[in-house]
Amino acid sequence: MKPWSGDGRPIFINEVGPRDGFQVESAFVPTDEKVGLINALSEAGLSKIEVTAFVSPKAIPALRDAEVVLNEIQRNPDVVYTALVPNVRGAERAIESRADELNLVMSASDSHNLSNLRMTREQSFSGLMQVAGVADASEVRVNISLSCAFGCPMEGDVPEDTVFHWCERFIEEAGANGVTLCDTTGMAYPSQVARMTEAFIARWPKTELTLHFHNTRGMGLANIIAAIDSGVTRFDASFGGLGGCPYAPGASGNVCTEEVVHALELMGYRTSINLDALMGVSRRLPSLVGHDLPSQLLKAGKRLDLHAPPPDFAEIRERALARNMPS
Ligand code: COA
Ligand code: ZN
Repeated sequence: MKPWSGDGRPIFINEVGPRDGFQVESAFVPTDEKVGLINALSEAGLSKIEVTAFVSPKAIPALRDAEVVLNEIQRNPDVVYTALVPNVRGAERAIESRADELNLVMSASDSHNLSNLRMTREQSFSGLMQVAGVADASEVRVNISLSCAFGCPMEGDVPEDTVFHWCERFIEEAGANGVTLCDTTGMAYPSQVARMTEAFIARWPKTELTLHFHNTRGMGLANIIAAIDSGVTRFDASFGGLGGCPYAPGASGNVCTEEVVHALELMGYRTSINLDALMGVSRRLPSLVGHDLPSQLLKAGKRLDLHAPPPDFAEIRERALARNMPS
């Protein structure tokens, strides 16, 4: 296989915008618009969609309509509909609404886990063991998203042994079907990604590994390519590049789904996503969230969306050619 060439190999994208994106928006995206967007994403060919989060409506009011959204979307049998759950209550709500998979969240760093979830990692883990038990009893898949796997904004580098310690406990004790290593605040860099993903795959070849990058420092796509080179085939991404903090100017969101699809398809990977359809969905977002989006592809268009030459092009050419004529 040629380096940097996809050779038709499949890459699976989990669209996390409806959860990771909408949860930080100050505008409430109306429930019927959410349903319409998710249906359009299903039609565009996404492999998985993180539809919503079954969290406290006081903590995340933007996702207070989780049940309605999951119940009203049209299910495409080729798409896995996943939902974030923080506790047993969330798991019961998600299972009742027929989520295909529960996405559990915990941080690899103690400071981040305490700040975000108000628990030590041990407390989170024992709570999530109960969630995994509820999922197992209902035969629903479990994925664990491990935040700050590539660095913590408060502690700096998180030792790789610590990251793998928690992976091991979730895979071997909690029976997780999949693990997502999350670069929550955009600290990952390509050689680190390659090292960690190779180590993960060597140790747990049967566990579904997904990577989740934020583009905070502009390294998102480079990290994805490094991960693919190391054998990863699954990525989270967010339509329009939604996500991040709307109150922090300059903070950016998840890697942008249409940018990832555009780049990988050019390199010969097969995402099964209809890029034009996906871009059509993303174009609906600015008016719903009330601001411009980071997506460079929506601004610049695809690589071969060509532009008309300037109106006086014929004259320019004539003048240029006339310069070659003998006088
Ligand atoms: N669904 C609905 N309501 C829930 C709930 C769930 N899964 N879990 C807790 N609640 C409600 C409780 O009923 C309680 O409501 P009340 O104040 O009306 O009595 C309130 O939330 C607090 O519950 P408590 O058990 O004391 O939990 P907490 O205050 O420690 O909150 C979390 C813990 C994690 C459930 C809550 O902070 C949360 O949902 N956070 C969202 C985290 C998140 O999504 N972060 C972004 C992604 S990482
Ligand atoms: Zn994220």
